[in-house]
Amino acid sequence: MDNIRVSVLVSGGGTNLQALIDRLEKGDIHAEIIKVISSRKKAFALERAKKHHISHEVIRPKDFDKEADFSQALLDSLVRSRTDLVLLAGFMSVLGPAVVRHYRNRIMNIHPSLIPSFCGAGMFGERVHREALKYGVKISGCTVMFVDEGVDTGPIILQAAVPVKDNDTVDTLQKRVLQEEHRLYPEAVKLFAEGRLVVSGRHVKILPVDKDGREEIKW
Ligand code: GRF
Repeated sequence: MDNIRVSVLVSGGGTNLQALIDRLEKGDIHAEIIKVISSRKKAFALERAKKHHISHEVIRPKDFDKEADFSQALLDSLVRSRTDLVLLAGFMSVLGPAVVRHYRNRIMNIHPSLIPSFCGAGMFGERVHREALKYGVKISGCTVMFVDEGVDTGPIILQAAVPVKDNDTVDTLQKRVLQEEHRLYPEAVKLFAEGRLVVSGRHVKILPVDKDGREEIKW
């Protein structure tokens, strides 16, 4: 079985990128990170790519007059490198409709809450956890979804929950959620690589491991 070709889009620290690199290095997922694209020159994620000898590139929105041109540059780069699956991992720019259309159900994103809570425009980074704490939820978590034209509106692939503790701060909650993100994102890639994700409208069905219906998914 050939490896699927994965490009990871980043803007920041890249701990999810690192988790993906580490997991893929184990060799039990038929996927390979062939490129990292950053929308910021100083993103630490680029250092991680360098260290692991992964081809990397900076494509910044501010270098283009129009958002559509930025998106086209991204699309050209993804197509040029024969990307099968695009992973957004802390990518802070909006993907234009041309990219979404071209890679329909082949772009994933990870969000640090249980969607549809604490998501949507402007809800990113520490703010997600601050709002969750403010609201008083007892459970938070993370969501891996396919990307559609909206913000955090695409079909949900996997979710994982974590408890919210009485003495949690933004920092402690963020750390607990991140730990789950690092486990969940590679799992979603594994399912994709095994051809087990079937999208129908808003629903993502996960096919069982074999035709007898045996289920081996652990999360
Ligand atoms: C993560 O919390 C992810 O859910 C969100 O952006 C953050 C990226 O963190 N989309 P990192 O750069 O992977 O450390």
